[in-house]
Amino acid sequence: PPPSASQSRSSAAAPPLEDTRDKGVILFGTQTGTAERFAKSLRAQLEGKFGGGTAFEALDIEQYDAAARLPREKLVLLLMATYGDGDPTDSATEFWAWLSQAAESGEDPDQLQGVSFAVFGLGNRQYEHFCAMGSKVSKAMKALGAREVAPRGEGDDDKDIDADFDGWCGRLFGALDASPLVSKGGASLSADFLAAYDVEEVRDAPASAVDVLPAGGSGLNSHSPFLATVGAVRELHAGGGRSCVHVELDISGCQASYEAGDHVAVFAENSPAVVEAAARVLGLPLSHCFRMRLPSHNKHGLPEPAVEGPLTLRCALARCADLLSAPNKAALLALAACAKDAGEAARLQHLASIEGTDSYHEYVLSAKRSLLEVMQDFPSARPSLGAFFGSVAPHLQPRYYSISSAPQQHPRSVHITCAVVKERMPTGREHEGVASSWLAAAKRGHRIPIFLRHSTFKLPADPAVPVVMVGPGTGLSPFRGFLQHRGELARAGRKLGPAHLFFGCRNRKHDFIYEEELEAAVANGALSQLHVAFSRDKSQKEYVQHHMEAHAAEIWGLLCESAGGYLYVCGDAGNMAKDVHRTLHGIAAQVTGCTDAQAEAAVKKLSDSGRYLKDVW
Ligand code: 2AM
Repeated sequence: PPPSASQSRSSAAAPPLEDTRDKGVILFGTQTGTAERFAKSLRAQLEGKFGGGTAFEALDIEQYDAAARLPREKLVLLLMATYGDGDPTDSATEFWAWLSQAAESGEDPDQLQGVSFAVFGLGNRQYEHFCAMGSKVSKAMKALGAREVAPRGEGDDDKDIDADFDGWCGRLFGALDASPLVSKGGASLSADFLAAYDVEEVRDAPASAVDVLPAGGSGLNSHSPFLATVGAVRELHAGGGRSCVHVELDISGCQASYEAGDHVAVFAENSPAVVEAAARVLGLPLSHCFRMRLPSHNKHGLPEPAVEGPLTLRCALARCADLLSAPNKAALLALAACAKDAGEAARLQHLASIEGTDSYHEYVLSAKRSLLEVMQDFPSARPSLGAFFGSVAPHLQPRYYSISSAPQQHPRSVHITCAVVKERMPTGREHEGVASSWLAAAKRGHRIPIFLRHSTFKLPADPAVPVVMVGPGTGLSPFRGFLQHRGELARAGRKLGPAHLFFGCRNRKHDFIYEEELEAAVANGALSQLHVAFSRDKSQKEYVQHHMEAHAAEIWGLLCESAGGYLYVCGDAGNMAKDVHRTLHGIAAQVTGCTDAQAEAAVKKLSDSGRYLKDVW
């Protein structure tokens, strides 16, 4: 949802808790939101499990004054993501600067005596410094005299980070159960446990004041979205039963600028059918009009509501609530707290508990049940609007797309190339991707909130440097932008280095997207060679990496140190990017006749020098 203009990062700060219960603090350092999601889930699970005897505050580590508070804490749970080369996330930079300095200086080695803590590190094993921040923080805390109450956990985003987190929670809860660190309240879940916005019905608002999208944002970040105007929308596939759309967005007047390779974030809306179903489970008409505000005693640290209103339930459900993702355990606990039927409450509480982890995996994750489906299964759990938007439904997040145009050719618009997600889920539900379906249905003239985000996925500054681009499917997006940029350079008479593009799709007939444009790029010199792998035209699978192997000497000739070329890979991170990475090692070894270890070192050097770039998802 487009956050209101007043929303700022500091709004996430929780005012101090007012009650006199024991307190624990959960600090999260997040870059993409996973650590924050885990922090909220952890808080709900802890309060659920220990009956609220100890109050837990979940806080963005950016808001935490470590020097003033950390030495006085009793129990601190840290969820630390690692960023880049084993670095803290942006939000944890200050915290880490203080902690590492305190630990290294050795001035007061007992500074954190009396503090108990546990750490869960988040990372990705594809990267060299896996979970480095988690282990560094744990070490520094111990060096200052703090006591680690449960073994440090590590979550691998490359595999199943939710399962890793659940495992760590289990060990942590076991340790806390056996310790006097948390008071076991034994109280059952109550309405007090729910974080809820204050909601006030509005009866007399003029229609022109209802459901208004905040206009005039800069488009520079998520707090200030720009309203872009939809231009051309066209289907790129010719049959084959799947859909991929080309969408042009007019960004005239937007303060943010872009280059080929950057991303555009789109705030999408849920489809009318999903919105109607959600209103039915909430038991309110779509026309119900209300205003939503932060509660004055915001002890749960709720962020500003995404939209204050006045707004109709139709609009709030469309823009604000993530209804189609799997509900997290915190959402299930919140539903349990609202359930009128004792059996439903017990079942929801079990699903959200550590003991119920297997059931949760089976019922929610494996079945790919959406929040909406779960709510349909538990009809007595009917949260108030404030509780629904505050505790049950996560905010609908913007979706990022690699821009498929270049400003040299399209200074006033960004193009999106978007595969429309449609799949049959195990429960029989036909899942339609929120953002892609919404973009596909967009009509010329619609205004949609967006912002632009810069990336490091950029052409070399010198156009004479060779480039090798690998992008099957919609992985072609940024390369269409690269080719537009190079096409303009060629038109201006600049000398261009060699450029190879490896594109892959299923069939020449159905999903060879932008075929004519790619051929034109060869004709105008933006592209030296176009290699296309059709995976389903022959009995044998043919992929981009097979074509790379067939041109091994040529490719390595462009990428080797003396030629100094750049390699770009865009598209599916799960299989394609890994297979291409493996193929690259093979190519290096085969062409130079070196050992596997030497080939690995050569590829690492390519990547360390910033000449091997990935934009994968
Ligand atoms: P497939 O679906 O026929 O297996 C764009 O999605 C193209 O990438 C499709 O032709 C798809 O082929 C192909 N693809 C699937 N897995 C891949 C992999 N591991 N490496 C390269 N291409 C792959």
